[in-house]
Amino acid sequence: MANVGIFFGSDTGNTEKVAVMIASRLGLEAQDIAGLSHDIFDAYDLLILGTPTANYGEMQPDWDYFVPELEEADLTGKKVALFGLGDQIDYPDSYLDAMGDLADLVMQAGGELIGQWPAEGYQFNDSRAFRDGRFIGLALDEDRQPELTEDRVATWLASLGL
Ligand SMILES: Cc1cc2nc3c(=O)[nH]c(=O)nc-3n(C[C@H](O)[C@H](O)[C@H](O)COP(=O)(O)O)c2cc1C
Repeated sequence: MANVGIFFGSDTGNTEKVAVMIASRLGLEAQDIAGLSHDIFDAYDLLILGTPTANYGEMQPDWDYFVPELEEADLTGKKVALFGLGDQIDYPDSYLDAMGDLADLVMQAGGELIGQWPAEGYQFNDSRAFRDGRFIGLALDEDRQPELTEDRVATWLASLGL
């Protein structure tokens, strides 16, 4: 298995919970992005990055604080899989927007995005994470579809070969 690093930012614990779920399936530890610097990524070939969307389309504060680190990072040669959490019913016009913003930063840093996810089974109007008919990473909704999270995670990890 590739050397996998799992990182998350989380305000109310949902993204952390999923990061821990992913990590425990892989026998790894999930790391909170808060307070880290970009050289933490050097040790890994595959990064799994998780973010919720905060405050009507904004990045989660710890990821927001990490943006200058991502702008300095060189992710060339690394594969990066994203998972995003949001609420498609209360925020249908900005569902998972922050995952889209994170995707842009990863691509600017030279990372290769993997783990795109089909959009069937979701209700939303608009999302910056929705590109070419698919989500740019795994789309989760712990507010409206918590019962689907475990299966979605398992299917997604299998699609990544993990
Ligand atoms: C004030 C507020 C604004 C939010 N804005 C969005 C949004 O624009 N898009 C979205 O998909 N989810 C939005 N959400 C939902 C959160 O992303 C969702 O509850 C997520 O699971 C929280 O993850 P966390 O517990 O890791 O912080 C918002 C939640 C709150 C409380």
